[in-house]
Amino acid sequence: MRAAAVQFEPVFGDIEGNARRLAGLIEPVDADLFVMPELALSGYLFESTEEAEGLSQPPESGVFDRLAAIAGEKDATVIIGFAERADEGLYNSSLLMAPDGRREVYRKIQLFNTEKEVFLPGNRPPAIVEVAGVKLGMMICFDWIFPEVARSLALLGADILCHSANLVLPYCQDAMVTRSIENRVFSITSNRVGTEKRAGLELTFTGQSEMVSPRGRIIERAAVTGETVLVHEIDPTEARDKQITPRNDIRGDRRTDLYRLD
Ligand code: ACM
Repeated sequence: MRAAAVQFEPVFGDIEGNARRLAGLIEPVDADLFVMPELALSGYLFESTEEAEGLSQPPESGVFDRLAAIAGEKDATVIIGFAERADEGLYNSSLLMAPDGRREVYRKIQLFNTEKEVFLPGNRPPAIVEVAGVKLGMMICFDWIFPEVARSLALLGADILCHSANLVLPYCQDAMVTRSIENRVFSITSNRVGTEKRAGLELTFTGQSEMVSPRGRIIERAAVTGETVLVHEIDPTEARDKQITPRNDIRGDRRTDLYRLD
């Protein structure tokens, strides 16, 4: 399959314009899977919960229709980060649009810093979405620093970690190499670029979107700045071989009788 990481700089608050530009970025690209950054429609730094509410959508919103149509036309899957409006509040979520029209949502579990003032933490366990026989696991940005998130997805059989991000700390791109190695899975980290100066804060996002193989090879890493789409042919079945040596299996050798998990 051909997998794509979309590195993007949203214009804060321009939901329709960002959706249009994202569609324009992927329309000419031949791929089966497109992973876009966290909060790619709205931007990241909200002044208040009210402002975030005004820039939020339910997953069935028409603002996703063009991207969903592209998924159908290309027989591809499109994953995008967005501010999800739910009855009980807002979640920092990823929406997966499958070629058959399905829309599946993942709600970020590990909120970062001021996100805790705006969003509710995800209330559902990590889950796998299977499309055309490939098992996709969604995670969002700061989820990376809790290895349990990637591990949970891997134990559920994920072939590819689809990691939508707005990274500001310098560690994640290297850490995702480890997440791939320790779980023997592909990872696609799609990060945003640019600087936001809002809500009394200034954040510069670290770009360097990347694709990593189950053996920890960086297939490609993008630059720190600039919008781009990385596209590579990958074989998801490589992620199903968990044998590290003839005597070591990453799944079977785990000593759950000895680990302390809480
Ligand atoms: C982050 O989780 N957006 C840093």
